[in-house]
Amino acid sequence: MKYSGLKGMEDILPPDIAVWQGIEAAARRVFDRYGYSEIRVPILESTDIFIRGIGEATDIVEKEMYTFTDKGNRSVSMRPEGTAPVVRCYVEKNLHTMSSPQKFFYSGPMFRYERPQKGRFRQFFQIGAEAFGVAAPAMDAEIIIMLQHLLEAIGLRDLNFEINSIGCAECRPSYRQALLDFFGAKLDEYCPDCRRRYETNPLRILDCKVSRCSELRQGAPVVIDFLCEDCKIHFGDVLSILSAFHVSHTLNPNLVRGLDYYTKTTFEVTSEHLGAQKAVAAGGRYDRLVREFGGPDTPAIGFAMGMERIVALLKEQGGIEQPAPLVYVATLGKAAETEGFKIVEQLRDHGLWAEQSYGSSSLKSQLRRADRIGARVALILGDNELQSGCLQWKDLKQGRQGEVALGNVVDFLKGHA
Ligand code: HAM
Repeated sequence: MKYSGLKGMEDILPPDIAVWQGIEAAARRVFDRYGYSEIRVPILESTDIFIRGIGEATDIVEKEMYTFTDKGNRSVSMRPEGTAPVVRCYVEKNLHTMSSPQKFFYSGPMFRYERPQKGRFRQFFQIGAEAFGVAAPAMDAEIIIMLQHLLEAIGLRDLNFEINSIGCAECRPSYRQALLDFFGAKLDEYCPDCRRRYETNPLRILDCKVSRCSELRQGAPVVIDFLCEDCKIHFGDVLSILSAFHVSHTLNPNLVRGLDYYTKTTFEVTSEHLGAQKAVAAGGRYDRLVREFGGPDTPAIGFAMGMERIVALLKEQGGIEQPAPLVYVATLGKAAETEGFKIVEQLRDHGLWAEQSYGSSSLKSQLRRADRIGARVALILGDNELQSGCLQWKDLKQGRQGEVALGNVVDFLKGHA
């Protein structure tokens, strides 16, 4: 019997795993500079938190959750995203009592039962950040600037920062009504999904990908025109801070996001090199969610980036260096093999990556292997070298070679590292 992995769920293997680890390490360095601490929340949560957090009428909750009844007869779901679980934790563990603002980051797998395609998986990994306790526009700007630094530190190029404000509980109803009036005039020409969205969440019609729907919505009311005074000032301040820091961005009035918890600022980072699934990262403000989860009135903002899409972009950009050992120890004969094993272990004790030949094969095939795994230096050790106490070394990248005394091997190779 042969088994295969589930559709839309990928194995992450070497050499790609090195790219993943590089991204994670770069993200950690940037989060450290901005004061974000890691938080780890469970993969499985009560289904209610996603219904309440993301919204009952969203695609994620309606169609995409891995939901099942556990042995205790509770409805549980594999997290489709990280914000709702982090907010659940924030409220349950009274994290608002920590000094403000509270800034957290997380990384891990998320699950959405979507139709798999390029850049879209059923298990995918996000690195996300959430900041609680600051309503000021400086926080929106800071988190967007941090995201830009993060993506730069990872090595991504040619990204577009799109930004919008979707208003608050005060201004949203008049905008919603304006949309209902506009879409209602030709409702029967929209796709079935949009006709349903008309009843549940008309804002979502704005980002429907069906071409007839995007034609029909030309000239639809624009949210910016409906913002209340507070939202307008807030958004204007965010944009002027971004401009002051030379963060180039595009206003996208159709950026309404597929999750209901957002208020005010929303943003998305896209790349033209990704095909249809072009969002690399996305986020926004969600000032009502902590309160809705039973916590104190707490403004919050965050984002998440999709690891698979970042890895795909980095691979497309090229220039990814695969990790390779510093040294390969090639040996000839039993006694040299034993000594070679010792040298390899000694090098590892000094923090150097060393590989060995594991038994008898010709020197030629050992050196071929050293080359294949990308080792920088080969050390060659046979009976003669054992007797003289001097090893031969060969720089496999530059073609230079020479001899080194057995007792100096570690220092010699440290000079190469
Ligand atoms: P989201 O837009 O649903 O937002 O997802 C964020 C990112 O995760 C996307 O931009 C994309 O890169 C990646 N992503 C989403 N779905 C898939 C998929 N099926 N396959 C591969 N990658 C995917 C959120 O999840 C919010 N929780 C972000 C947030 C944090 N807002 C505030 N705080």
